[in-house]
This record gives sequence, C-alpha cells and structure tokens, in this order.
Amino acid sequence: MARLQLGVLISGRGSNLQALIAACADPAYPAEIVLVVANKPDAKGLHNARDAGLATTIVEHGGFLDRESFDHAVNTELQNAGVELVCLAGFMRLLSSWFVEHWRDRIINIHPSLLPAFKGIDAHEQAITAGVKLSGCSVHIVRPEMDAGPILVQAAVPVRPDDDTDSLAARILAVEHQCYPLAVKLIAEGRVQVDGDTAIVKMPADVGAHIISPPKS
Ligand code: GRF
Repeated sequence: MARLQLGVLISGRGSNLQALIAACADPAYPAEIVLVVANKPDAKGLHNARDAGLATTIVEHGGFLDRESFDHAVNTELQNAGVELVCLAGFMRLLSSWFVEHWRDRIINIHPSLLPAFKGIDAHEQAITAGVKLSGCSVHIVRPEMDAGPILVQAAVPVRPDDDTDSLAARILAVEHQCYPLAVKLIAEGRVQVDGDTAIVKMPADVGAHIISPPKS
C-alpha cells in the first residue's frame, strides 16, 4: 500500500520530528517523510533529518515581505515534494488562514497541554499556575486560530507538586513522542473522520476507563 507522504515543519530541537523519523523507519508504518522544512537555518532538528537522509529545505521568514508570501513559498516546497499531510512539529510561526485553508484537514500540530486548556507558548507554566493535577499533550488538526481544531490523540500525565516547567515539559515530551506517530498512523490508516470542529477516531474497545491523579495510595 502507498505510504502517506509527510512534510514536517520545524523551528528548533526537532524531537517530535525524530519520533516520526523513528516510526517511519519501520517499513510497516503507513507513512514516510518526504520533506523537512525549517524556517530557521540553525534549527537543530535539521541535523536529525539530514542524518536520516531526508530531503530538507530552509525557508527563512525574514526574507519575505509578509506572512502570506512566506506561506506561499513553504507551500510550493511542499507541493513540489508531493506532500499529502503537513505535520507541524515545534514550528514557531503562525500560518496564515490562506495556508491553513489550503491544507484543510491535511495539516496537524502537537501541543503540550490537554487542549482546549492552556493554548499558547507557555502551556506548561499555565498548567502549573492553574494547579491542575493532570496535563499532557494533544495532536490536533490545525484551524486558523492558534492551537485550535479537531483533536486526534491526547495523553495525560500527572502534574506533581514539586514540578517546575522543565520537569513537567520533560514528562509531557515523552508522551508527545508516542502520540505524534500514533496520530499520523491513524490518519494514514483512514481511521479519522473529521466532522466540523471534532474528529471521530475509530479505536479499539479496550481503552482504559480512567486516570486519577494524585493516585490513590
Ligand atoms: C513540543 O513541546 C511541542 O508540543 C510544541 O513545541 C515543542 C517542540 O519540541 N509544539 P521539538 O522541537 O519537537 O523537540
């Protein structure tokens, strides 16, 4: 069966990109990365991509007059590479409505909170300040509003009383690396149906009943 062709957009570290690279290394995985786009030439994730022998390109946003011209340039790169699904993986730039609509239901993002809670760049800080006992990550289909759109996969982790943003971020990142490849797999296998603002994801019946944090001692 043809593998779903992925374009991954990054700005920095690229650990979620690395998780996707690892998943795609399995010939049975139903997707493959055909292009990695960075908007910063020093994005560390570019090294991982090159080490894996992937095609990479840098589209520096500073070189464009406005947001849409940059987005058009990125779009051209994605189209030329035959991308079918755009994966934002730590891409620290808002995309224009034009771009998001152009890729409607074919562009996904990962965010380090249980959306719709704690949107924005300081999600970990917001979770700690709010005193929630569970936080986590969400993979969602992108809509023009920031960190909004049909949710595909979520994972929860406990927030501990001694957590700071770094310790919470590390705990969440570990589950991000499981959720992103899973979300891509679900899409590639045709198990996602988008219905307006929500996504219906076919899943096995034996999902766990609940998670309690703090756990009962
Ligand atoms: C992740 O925490 C992701 O949820 C957020 O940005 C971070 C990117 O990390 N959108 P990395 O570049 O994938 O390591």
